[in-house]
Amino acid sequence: MRPTFADLQPAPPDAILGLAEAFRADPRTDKISLASGVYVDESGTTPVLQTVLEAEQRILHGQTTKLYKPIAGDPAYTHAVRELLFGAEHQALAEGRVETLHTPGGTGALRVAADLVRRLRPASTVWLSSPTWPNHPQVFDAAGLDTRTYPYLDGARGGLDFEGMLGALAAAAPGDVVVLHACCHNPTGIDPTPEQWEAIAALVDVRGLLPLLDFAYQGFGDGLNEDAVGLMTMARSGRELLVASSFSKNFALYAERVGALSIVASTRPEAHALLSHAKVAVRANYSNPPAHGGEIVATILLDPALRARWEDEVTAMRERINGNRARFVEGLEGAGAPIEPAPLLRQRGMFSLLGLTTEQVARLRTEFGVYVVGRGRVNVAGLTGRNIGPACAAIAAVLAG
Ligand code: LMR
Repeated sequence: MRPTFADLQPAPPDAILGLAEAFRADPRTDKISLASGVYVDESGTTPVLQTVLEAEQRILHGQTTKLYKPIAGDPAYTHAVRELLFGAEHQALAEGRVETLHTPGGTGALRVAADLVRRLRPASTVWLSSPTWPNHPQVFDAAGLDTRTYPYLDGARGGLDFEGMLGALAAAAPGDVVVLHACCHNPTGIDPTPEQWEAIAALVDVRGLLPLLDFAYQGFGDGLNEDAVGLMTMARSGRELLVASSFSKNFALYAERVGALSIVASTRPEAHALLSHAKVAVRANYSNPPAHGGEIVATILLDPALRARWEDEVTAMRERINGNRARFVEGLEGAGAPIEPAPLLRQRGMFSLLGLTTEQVARLRTEFGVYVVGRGRVNVAGLTGRNIGPACAAIAAVLAG
């Protein structure tokens, strides 16, 4: 019999972007989207940054060709990314131990990292925090790698289950990959303290693990440098390390798909060899990166005046998010929601995890038109003066049962 797809059942919608589709299709005019992790301003829109508009003008006027980019991207871009992530003076950069590839977004970086690991260490397991970004397991599965989870959230205390995390990772085999959210953990908003990062680094060394830092929210927690504390700790002592970074959020370049995979090796020749294998993975996947987003980022980062203005734009976004978090907690308390304010106020980045049940999340959507992810991950950046009252009232209502 000729094989056909006639009986194929549809795949389930994506846990996050599927909600964005459902939101768009929802005819209610008072619906509220707190699902996708995108920055929203007080007017409810996601604007193009002024520095981005200016860089685009320059690019448009100076453009002479649409030739392919190198497989790893433009050297100007990868250089600028490395310096932003590690700092221009970092020893690993001076020693030529860091190679960077321009990838389509942070997801592209994760997939290249996954393909690289699959190519070099096919038997290794990838350890993911529980909970984590729903796309993480999917990306590593797609690359043919096994995944396991380590505890992360201490539900009772609303903090990091650090003992549980270290205990689980102590069972990881040498060569296994541990995925760590460099800052603004998605979805919990809980990050390790500097001391905890030190302990994680020590465990990585003892167990011979390969850390993969997912760095999608640099600048959205406490500041561009402050948010790199985990990366700085991991990048010390000649440790091997992968970093998947994204400019979707801090440059608001969501649709341009611009990110990077940085490979930190213990020697320059090793970095070079790893880069060559990553390039094979890229070539077999999307061949070479799209130009526009990378050109924007490089234009801004390499021009001191534009860069200073971009840093101010990041600060403004971060301050709005942090202000929103405080207003959100106040709003929930004002609406009579039985919440513990302290853990919610400690969370960092775009998200606040409320720990709702699946039923409560479904009720928020069907009854109140309020869209949140998973177990009540709220994008606090999506709260505005207009929607915060109804959103808090709806959450209080579903928590009341
Ligand atoms: C999110 O977690 O909402 C964002 O990272 C958007 C995405 O791609 O899922």
